[in-house]
This record gives sequence, structure tokens and C-alpha cells, in this order.
Amino acid sequence: MNTPQQLQHIPVLLERTLELLQPKKGETYLDLTAGYGGHAGKVIEAIGDAHFATLVDRDENAISALEPLKKRGACVIKTDYASAAATLNGQGESYDMILLDLGVSSPQLDIAKRGFSFMQNGPLDMRMDQQTGFTAAEICNKASENELVQILREYGEEPHANKVAKAIIANRPFSTTTQLADVVGKVYRGRRGKIHPATRTFQALRIAVNQELQQLQDTLLLIPNLLRPDGRVAIISFHSLEDRMVKRFFKEEQEAGYEARLQILTKQPISGAIDDVHNPRARSAKLRAAVKIK
Ligand SMILES: C[S@@+](CC[C@H](N)C(=O)[O-])C[C@H]1O[C@@H](n2cnc3c(N)ncnc32)[C@H](O)[C@@H]1O
Repeated sequence: MNTPQQLQHIPVLLERTLELLQPKKGETYLDLTAGYGGHAGKVIEAIGDAHFATLVDRDENAISALEPLKKRGACVIKTDYASAAATLNGQGESYDMILLDLGVSSPQLDIAKRGFSFMQNGPLDMRMDQQTGFTAAEICNKASENELVQILREYGEEPHANKVAKAIIANRPFSTTTQLADVVGKVYRGRRGKIHPATRTFQALRIAVNQELQQLQDTLLLIPNLLRPDGRVAIISFHSLEDRMVKRFFKEEQEAGYEARLQILTKQPISGAIDDVHNPRARSAKLRAAVKIK
């Protein structure tokens, strides 16, 4: 079995992110989704001292993988990024660069026992932080039909949300990923699409389990405060709902007249499709960035 340091995640849109963050010697960096340190490692190289970096993740394996950067002086915090942002803001901290690289890491998807993947059998968990919160199985087994429909529709954009919710209710209790994937597959029997029938259901449950949209919404509001004048923020999203939230927030901040705090650096989002050759998981990524107005 791999140790956390041996688990691999290829950073998405690395070069383009660095071009937008423009790290310079002696600057400070807050990485709210540090993962396996791919982006963080390159930024730290450029700023020249790991002591100027604060790295946040809620996943135990990611925190272990960040140990080498911690040993070099980086401040590593295991918590959800909305709580980290609120605490750092409360302490009056501010940074020259902030990065949010949303979504899941490759090891989260690849390790069957984390329960994120319908391609491998494992416990139906999906929690990024396995010490807190409800698992995907608990949601499937306890939610009302209406709650399931709402989760599937809103977070998964599942066109057959009603049918999938009914099938979940009829077949519970659930404990494994393949059990759920098979039930959703039966709803789709005879209808063949480009993606696996369980893709949207798994995405919806993952977003619900980890409260991903709420985390992003709460954190966006704090970003202008957490940036120093001329500070840059880059956000990589993998879901249209997240990208829309980021786009709207940057636009509102830029168009706030004399109260405007951010200026958009990316008129159009940069698509991860350009990284696709090396990393198929980059395909759905969208990168947006903004700079804090002095
Ligand atoms: C796409 S990976 C980041 C990869 C990283 N940029 C790298 O180059 O290795 C996303 C990471 O964000 C973490 N994450 C996602 N949502 C989080 C949240 N709300 N709070 C803290 N960490 C979160 C996940 O655990 C995962 O490790």
C-alpha cells in the first residue's frame, strides 16, 4: 500500500495558475485546498521561503503528504477551508496570494475505501474529512425522498432525479459504492449516454456530504479581506455551479463602484482542456483570477 507521500495528484493548470498568481520573493501565500502540495510547492519555490506559506486541507492523507513542506516551515492546518478562512480573517491575517483548487484529489478518487468512486467497490463514505459529518450512505439511508430529489437535482443536475430518489428509497439501506451504482444503473437501463449513469448521483452526494457549495460561498465573502493590496486570488473549479458562484462574486466585487475591491484578471475562464493530454481529470476545470484593488 502507498504511504501518503507516495500518493500522487497531478496539479491542474499549474503553469497558468502561476502566471496569474505571479509569486515573487518574500510574498505570502494562503493555499486553502493544498492537497498534495503540487501548486504550493511551486509557489514556495518562487517566494523562496516555506515560512511564508499557510496550507489548509481537511483530508488526513493530504495533511500527511504536506509534511515535507511543514518541515521546511510552512504552516499546515487541518480543517475545512471556510473555518480556516474565518479564523485567519478574525486574526487579521492577509496574504499576497490565495489559491482555491476545488474538488477532489486523485487519491481521494483512487482509494476505494474512501467511497468516492462508482468504478471501485468500497464503503459509501465520500467524506473528505473522515472524522466529521455524515457519510453518503447515511444520507442515502436517512434522507426523505424530497431531500434526495433536491440534492440530485441541485448538485448533480440529474435529469431523472425523481426516479433515482425513488429507487434509492426502495433499495435502502446502502453500505457500498457498487450497490448504489447498480441501483442507479437500473434506473437508466436502456438509456445510454456519454457518461456512466451513476456519475451525477455520485457527484451530487459528494457535494452534499462535504457541503461544498456552502464552503465556497462563505469563503468567497472573506477573500477580499484576506488579500493584501495588489494581492491575487486564483480559483479552479470543476462544476458549473461553483464556476457560476466565482464568476458572479468577482463581477459584483469589480462593479461595486467606489467600494470595488477586486479587479478581474481572467475575462474568460481558462479551461483545463489545455492540460487534458497530461491529465484527463483537468478536462472540466475552469480557472478564474482577480487582483485586490489598492
Ligand atoms: C484538487 S485537490 C487540490 C490539489 C492541490 N492543488 C495539489 O496541487 O496537490 C483538492 C483538495 O482540496 C481539499 N478540499 C476540498 N474541499 C475542502 C474544504 N472545504 N476544506 C478543506 N479542504 C478541502 C481536498 O481534500 C483535496 O485535497
